[in-house]
Amino acid sequence: MANPPTKEMPAAIQLDTATPISVSVRNVYKTFDTTPALKDIALDIRRGEFFSLLGPSGCGKTTLLRSIGGFETPTSGTILIDGKDVGGIPPYGRPTNMIFQQLALFPHLDVYENVAFGLRVQKKPKEQIDGRVKGALALVRLEGYERRMPSQLSGGQRQRVAMARALVNEPSVLLLDEPLGSLDLQLRLQMHEELRRLQRTLGNTFVFVTHDQGEAMSMSDRIAVMNGGVIVQLGTPEDIYERPQSRFVAQFVGHTNLFDGKVIRIEGSRVTVESDGISLAATTPTPVELGQAVTVVVRYERLGLGAGDTTLRGNVAERMFLGGTVRVVMALSGGRLVTADIASTAATGLPAIGEPVALTFNASDSRVLVA
Ligand SMILES: Nc1ncnc2c1ncn2[C@@H]1O[C@H](COP(=O)(O)OP(=O)(O)OP(=O)(O)O)[C@@H](O)[C@H]1O
Ligand SMILES: [Mg+2]
Repeated sequence: MANPPTKEMPAAIQLDTATPISVSVRNVYKTFDTTPALKDIALDIRRGEFFSLLGPSGCGKTTLLRSIGGFETPTSGTILIDGKDVGGIPPYGRPTNMIFQQLALFPHLDVYENVAFGLRVQKKPKEQIDGRVKGALALVRLEGYERRMPSQLSGGQRQRVAMARALVNEPSVLLLDEPLGSLDLQLRLQMHEELRRLQRTLGNTFVFVTHDQGEAMSMSDRIAVMNGGVIVQLGTPEDIYERPQSRFVAQFVGHTNLFDGKVIRIEGSRVTVESDGISLAATTPTPVELGQAVTVVVRYERLGLGAGDTTLRGNVAERMFLGGTVRVVMALSGGRLVTADIASTAATGLPAIGEPVALTFNASDSRVLVA
């Protein structure tokens, strides 16, 4: 499955003109004292989209989410929600609701009252409150838990109460700041499914913040990868994973071997790159020149033990059983390490630590980065 040279997706969004824009962020900057937290952020999120902001700690995810929710005022730039400029409108005046990074249920209120709180403050009629609270609890599958106190709930149940509390206001846009951060892996995976189901049922816009690439991949329609206050790539999970446009994205999303080298042969979109005396076959998405300095990206799972366009030889330095796969770290003669994830079913013939091994990959599974 050789990749033909495709025109790179621009960092800007590809709009399906049929879908209205839910949140539009235009040239937003935010500087705290002297710290620039957001630098010229521009993105359009479609109505009904599950959109994730993904990036390392401190890259500006929370600041951007808080700016959309009205908890932070951008230093400059404009934010529109449902087509309306929300500059100067406080959080409670926006069609948004936010689930904060630090989960805060009222410990002295039971589940029902936690969910009802916002509606009571708005002095909604009793029957309306009751209907909406019950509806929200049903959505997060917590019927029957109305009279439990937060201390009597599991971590996942508490998260679902927080979700119900945000949903009860029927926001057009739900802003979620790492809502699953405190949960163990099993619960997180369960909540991924719940969240996706909820979002599909409700059809409203979810803007989800996470630093976990697996979480972003599995749930999102599109992802904006952020680093240092800027969006470094925006696209579908597949775009981001299969077509990283920078070293940063290649390394941040998925497990990746990177080989720096020079182009020594070009045959259409297929090139050969020389890196530390090794020849590597790769596919290039953009035209390159002979002698050009490039980086070859090979995901761990794209390396195998069978035949391939490129064969790398070395000794097994380490092997780890990961369940479905076995991770093999191979040391090349110069000392450089190459890592492969081999399907456990294919790993029976894998040599022991210290023994020679050959790892292979095809040109269609390795990609040239020019940046
Ligand atoms: N109120 C504030 N005053 C000063 N600096 C701030 C403030 N809030 C955030 N920052 C700084 O802005 C930058 C972005 O912070 P932000 O909280 O948006 O990051 P984040 O991507 O959400 O990180 P994390 O994954 O750790 O939650 C950081 O350098 C942070 O120190
Ligand atoms: Mg944050």
